[in-house]
Amino acid sequence: MAPGIAAACALLALLLPLGLRSSASEASRPAYQNPRLDVEQRVDDLLSRMTVVEKLDMLTGSTWMESTPNSRLGIPKIRMADGPAGVRPATGPGGMGVTVAGTAFPAGVALAATWDVELVGKVGRAIGMDARALGRDMILGPTVNIHRAPEAGRNFETFGEDPYLTSRLAVAFIQGLQAEGVMAVVKHFAANNQETDRYSVDVRVDERTLNEIYLPAFRAAVQEAGVWSVMSAYNKVNGVWCTENPSLLTDVLKKQWGFRGFVVSDWVATHTTVETANAGLDLEMPGTESRRMLLKRMPSLAPGFNGHPDAYMNRPELLQALADGRVKQAVVNDKVRRLLRAMFSNGLFDGRPPSAAVADGPEQRRIARMAAAEAIVLLKNQGRLLPLGPQVRSIAVIGPNAATARTGGGGSSEMKPASPVSPLEGIRQRAGAGIKVGYALGCPLPASGRTLPPQAPRNESPDDPATRAARLREAVELAAGSDVAIVFAGYSSGLDSEGFDRDLRLPVGQDELIQAVAAANRNTIVVLNSGGPVLMSAWIDRVPSALATWYLGQEAGNAVAAVLFGDENPSGKLPATFLREAKDSAAYRNFPGSGGTVSYKEGLYVGYRHFDRNRLDPLFPFGYGLSYTTFTYRNLKISPSRVVPGQRVEVTLDVRNTGTRRGVEVVQLYIHDVEASVDRPDKELKSFRRVELDPGQTRTVSFYLDDSAMAFYHPGKKGWVAEPGSFETLVGSSSRNIELTGEFELTAATDK
Ligand code: GLC
Repeated sequence: MAPGIAAACALLALLLPLGLRSSASEASRPAYQNPRLDVEQRVDDLLSRMTVVEKLDMLTGSTWMESTPNSRLGIPKIRMADGPAGVRPATGPGGMGVTVAGTAFPAGVALAATWDVELVGKVGRAIGMDARALGRDMILGPTVNIHRAPEAGRNFETFGEDPYLTSRLAVAFIQGLQAEGVMAVVKHFAANNQETDRYSVDVRVDERTLNEIYLPAFRAAVQEAGVWSVMSAYNKVNGVWCTENPSLLTDVLKKQWGFRGFVVSDWVATHTTVETANAGLDLEMPGTESRRMLLKRMPSLAPGFNGHPDAYMNRPELLQALADGRVKQAVVNDKVRRLLRAMFSNGLFDGRPPSAAVADGPEQRRIARMAAAEAIVLLKNQGRLLPLGPQVRSIAVIGPNAATARTGGGGSSEMKPASPVSPLEGIRQRAGAGIKVGYALGCPLPASGRTLPPQAPRNESPDDPATRAARLREAVELAAGSDVAIVFAGYSSGLDSEGFDRDLRLPVGQDELIQAVAAANRNTIVVLNSGGPVLMSAWIDRVPSALATWYLGQEAGNAVAAVLFGDENPSGKLPATFLREAKDSAAYRNFPGSGGTVSYKEGLYVGYRHFDRNRLDPLFPFGYGLSYTTFTYRNLKISPSRVVPGQRVEVTLDVRNTGTRRGVEVVQLYIHDVEASVDRPDKELKSFRRVELDPGQTRTVSFYLDDSAMAFYHPGKKGWVAEPGSFETLVGSSSRNIELTGEFELTAATDK
């Protein structure tokens, strides 16, 4: 017998008994423990083995960040961690879980400013690598709530004011995270758009606005990304708590959208047992033990607990509800089925191989650094002061955000990176010995609002007048003696945070500081940390350059220095409108509401939709961002010019880099329904493309539009409708800088 065949036979002989043995052992063990069976079979088998009490015990958490395991049947706990900007230690009353944090990535609004779907997917994957390395099965993110009011305290955490941009980035983030075998939780469902009265506010919003503005990212997360969990929000929608809202949790999420995962409550967000169980909440967090710990530690929270120290979906109350028929067993079974489906599908029963990644490893840091640089938006650059050229031999680095890296906003998403890089460190490192870098604080930040629950900080200086004057003088003198002065202004995680809404004015003293430095040095650059727009009218006309840098995670200082020195060409675009005055906001007259209710009377007209409709002039528009190079747009073509429903329209154009250095342009395509039977916004973002070009290079950019780009939500039909008629396509580098326009016609299905 040929040696090769002999070896194969020997191998076969060796494996065969193993195979027999594995089938023998498989026959002996319960079906649900067999990874070769399909998930639904394993769920059915395990569900059939569970007692009623064992099922009920799965419906609430066991500790602050874990679900309840079952040792008899070998059901593991789901080990969770926040959040959207990285895997953070769970420091809640249960106090457990990760001791080392993962990489601190840029905040949501910074990721949104990249408009880079592929990159956001890589960030999701990198957070998944950290989660696996830190033994976590589920990450409580992304946060996809829309920027309705620019003051909202968690705007820093989300993807901006537009539902299409938010949807594309949410899908990418979730797909990246879940590709690592880590469950994502898209949050907070739904219409959680302010922090004032966050635990109780009743949001009054019409059905069309809900579906066209506030729900699209959740729907995309479910139907395109296959998100495993949705977190129901604290607030009410149209009079009903989100945690017990059958319209949202069952009719829309599970029936209309076909959601097969599970709904988890926000922490301590439940209010009843039967209504919550019947409405479609599947897992109540954090559970009885943590609620009791929380109450013990902070008795002041008692009113919010309505005298109910235990989890609402607790065993005794649910047993009683089952016994008297207020809750059906099938309702409980469906919850357990959803939890088990997610757990089997993500390998929680099958002892996943240990992760190859180390927490906060080099790959994660590389992605964090890339994202931080791409997120930076160049707002102004008069006289091309930036990038800093070889003629700059001395730099004054000034401000409360210069020597401290503002890596994230405050609250449950806040990371505590081990070695964050501040702008001052980043600049000193990049400048090297040849450039003199001086530092002056200029003015300190007010005391932060960080108490539990967080309170809005008072915008007061911690300094006495004499100290304030001395600090200002020191900064001015440094600026006067330097070639360039850079003021790092904005907020901190104690001033821009979950738990309270933000003041659009810069913290006390910063306007004056910028004015004084600009008066002392005509080459003054302002670099901002914020979760959204700030009021700049006091100084924006007095400085040649300004950048929005959001919260850039642990690589902040390196990314800012790279852009300032021109190692990176800024390509960020605003994901939210920067307004001139607070009263220009769409929500101005209806924020934060009164008497516990907030009415979204602006309807669809949020963000740039509002500015367009009301012919308002933003300071910097949605989608805006400068580059160190320039681009032209030519040759818009649309084909075919007439389409029937279901047929795609192709829009192409040529983009050329007409500057002197390589750069990225984000080409944006908006749609205007010219003949709508209902009121529709003047333009709506329906696609975008990032294109990187060398100097002189031209590339043809293509967009493909289907009915979804033309449709609006029709409450009467409970669905989306694309009406026949002409549609205008508007292509440009921001919502206000439209370079080319064209038209196509959607004909009625019968027209051939
Ligand atoms: C917080 C937040 C939520 C977070 C959760 C756990 O209150 O609203 O986003 O994931 O509790 O920390």
